[in-house]
Amino acid sequence: MQPIYVTKPYLPPLDEFVRLLEQVWESRILTNNGPFHQQLEGRLQDVFDSPHVSLTNNGMLALTTAINAAQLEGEVITTPYSFVATTHALALEGLTPVFVDIRPSDLNIDPDLIEAAITERTSAIVAVHVYGNPCAVAQIEDIAARHNLKVIYDAAHAFGVRYQGRSLLSYGDFGALSFHATKAFNTFEGGAVVSREAEGKRAVDAVRNFGIADEVNIPVVGTNAKMSEINAAFGMVQLEHFEDVRRRRRQIDTRYRERLSAIEGIDLVPIPDGVESNFSYFPIMVRDSFSLSRDALYEALKAEGIYSRRYFYPLLSSLPMYADLPSAAAGRLPQAERAAAQVLCLPIYPDLTDADQQRIVQAVIDHARQ
Ligand SMILES: Cc1ncc(COP(=O)(O)O)c(C=O)c1O
Repeated sequence: MQPIYVTKPYLPPLDEFVRLLEQVWESRILTNNGPFHQQLEGRLQDVFDSPHVSLTNNGMLALTTAINAAQLEGEVITTPYSFVATTHALALEGLTPVFVDIRPSDLNIDPDLIEAAITERTSAIVAVHVYGNPCAVAQIEDIAARHNLKVIYDAAHAFGVRYQGRSLLSYGDFGALSFHATKAFNTFEGGAVVSREAEGKRAVDAVRNFGIADEVNIPVVGTNAKMSEINAAFGMVQLEHFEDVRRRRRQIDTRYRERLSAIEGIDLVPIPDGVESNFSYFPIMVRDSFSLSRDALYEALKAEGIYSRRYFYPLLSSLPMYADLPSAAAGRLPQAERAAAQVLCLPIYPDLTDADQQRIVQAVIDHARQ
C-alpha cells in the first residue's frame, strides 16, 4: 500500500516556472525588491483586498516583522491552540503571551473571554484564523478599539479565504501569512504581511530589510525577511493555478463531509456561513463516544499507511517555556485542552485521488463502533 501523507505540496507544470527562471538568469536580479517581487506584491493586493502587502521569506518572519512594526510591549492576548510559531514570535519579540481559551464552534480564540484577560500591560491581541476559519473579527475589533489595543491575525492558514464578501486579510491592523510548502498557496518557503495602513506597510518594509531607509539612513532595528526573486517568480506561477487548486480541495472536502458526517463519535468542524474557504485542512474531532481514542485512531491509520496529523497538539501553553505562565495554569483552558486531545487532521490536497480518499474514509469507518 502506498503511504498517504496529510498533504502533498501543489506544484505547477515545471515549464511555466522555467520560463520565469530564464528571465531571472537574464536580469541577474536575485532579490531586494526585484521585478517578480514587485509583480507578486501587486497581484496579491487584489487577492487580499489591500494596497499594503509586504512579501516575506516565511510566515514566522511575517509574524515577527508585523509584531515589531506594531511596536508592541508588555502582554499580548493570544490563543494556545495554534502552531508553535504564533507564541514563539511573541516570545522572541520579548512579549509575554497571555493565553485565552478557544470557543468550541470554530476552535478560534473565544472573544467573550478576552476582556477579562486585559490588564494595563496589554498592548495587543494576536489571534489565529485556525484552519482558515475567521476569528470573531467584529467583536475583536470592537474590544481592541475600546481598550486601545492592536490586532494582529496569524493568517497562515487563510490565503484566499473570503469572509462576508471581503478577503479575511482585510481585517486587523496586520495579517501574517505563510506560503510554506504545506499551505494552500506555496512559494516553497514564503509569507507576507498585510497592513491596514500605509504607515504600517512602511514600518514592515523597513523591519524586513534590516531597518534600512536609504543608502545612508538606518533609523530602526530590523531583520532580513526579504523574499527572493525565485520564490516570488514561483508565486506568480502558483497564483495562476490557485482557483483550480481551491476547486479540487473543495471537492475533497465535500466528499469527506458526505461520508464522515454520520459516524458516531466523529464530529466535523463546520465552515461557517459567509466564508469562502481554501479547504486546506480537514480536521475531525474524535469524541469519547468513538470506539478508539484520538491517539489510538492516529496510530491505527498510521499502521495502514495513512499519515494524519494532530494539528494542534501539544497545546502551546503546555510547552516548557510557557507552562509556568499564570494564564497556562491547569484548568484555565478547558476547551483548548479538549480540542488538542481530540483533533485529527485527515489528508487533503489537490492530487488526492478518489480511491485514496475512499481508503481513508473506509479506515475511519472500520474503526467506528459497529
Ligand atoms: C498558524 C501558523 N502560524 C505560523 C506558521 C509559520 O509559517 P512558516 O512555516 O511559513 O514560517 C505556520 C505554519 O508553518 C502556522 O500554521
